[in-house]
Amino acid sequence: MYAQMVQSEASTDDPEKLAAFQARIDAGEKIEPKDWMPAGYRKTLIRQIGQHAHSEIVGQLPEGNWITRAPTLERKAILLAKVQDEAGHGLYLYCAAETLGVSRDELTEMLLDGRMKYSSIFNYPTLNWADMGAVGWLVDGAAIMNQVPLQRTSFGPYSRAMIRVCKEESFHARQGFDAIRKMATGTPAQKKMAQDAVNRLWFPALMMFGPSDADSVHSTQSMAWKIKMNTNDELRQKFVDQTVPQIEFLGLDLPDEGITWNEERGHYDYSDPDWSEFFDVIKGNGPCNTDRLAARNKAWKDGEWVRDGLLAHARKKAARKHAAE
Ligand code: 3HC
Repeated sequence: MYAQMVQSEASTDDPEKLAAFQARIDAGEKIEPKDWMPAGYRKTLIRQIGQHAHSEIVGQLPEGNWITRAPTLERKAILLAKVQDEAGHGLYLYCAAETLGVSRDELTEMLLDGRMKYSSIFNYPTLNWADMGAVGWLVDGAAIMNQVPLQRTSFGPYSRAMIRVCKEESFHARQGFDAIRKMATGTPAQKKMAQDAVNRLWFPALMMFGPSDADSVHSTQSMAWKIKMNTNDELRQKFVDQTVPQIEFLGLDLPDEGITWNEERGHYDYSDPDWSEFFDVIKGNGPCNTDRLAARNKAWKDGEWVRDGLLAHARKKAARKHAAE
């Protein structure tokens, strides 16, 4: 359905309309679903918002794995609330994507058959409770760094979804930092677990911001359309600058020997992630890609009877309403 729509707009992308559209973007106006938009604008929004939504849903899996094994009832309740939030974030984002003419089922099919991506970070395993702290602190911390600017994105429904998501993300990062702080200042064994979690998750967290600017396929056009407000490297640098002092505050070793303060730049220098690993993971060859997609495919299949029941009920209700008119 949405492919035809994008196709039809492509033929109407006449220069005058494009110029008027770009003038609206440059003036900081919000583009709403019923407004004219270039086919490419719609297409990259569906791609980015769809993959963002998939990240929220698949992102529940690594943490969901630890809800039944939380060390205390309080930690269990906190983690449960956090994972539940992520489902809600996915729903806001699928709703925003649907306003562009794509259905949730189409988006889900493209996730399940590998045509659409989700954030690479969720293809890494969570091995122990320290990982829960590191995921909340580093992964949600990186997600906040990337999502706060998106509150100002040009597409209205996406911007409004981000405002709501960002309010909840701060709790996610704080609860993670609190959990890892408890371990970093706990017994030597707990501190060792905290250090190991940071060492394992640091570079995959840097990869969340996308490839280096030189390798970013979409950044230039996405920034011209204010779908993206910053480049990948800009946000990655902001994340490093914010997180290094936090690692030092926790009394943990820095996870990258290349991290040094650069007075001249006014930023931390740091080592690049292993980009061949990054491209390998997003191609489907990460440690957990198979498990994550298998879990999502099973959930989709197991939930078929619920969808069928709801759709049958909706059809019956509509038929009754039609008959009464
Ligand atoms: N994981 C998977 N794929 C990635 C990626 C990552 N970390 N970074 C980039 N890619 C993909 C892109 O999707 C693109 O592939 P595609 O053409 O098939 O979509 C390709 O690599 C080239 O990257 P670009 O830089 O050209 O792509 P973008 O301009 O789209 O930038 C992005 C990538 C920065 C992730 C951007 O899409 C974005 O800001 N998305 C919105 C935010 C988002 O999705 N965040 C994910 C985390 S949300 C989360 O973690 C949930 C939280 O609750 C924990």
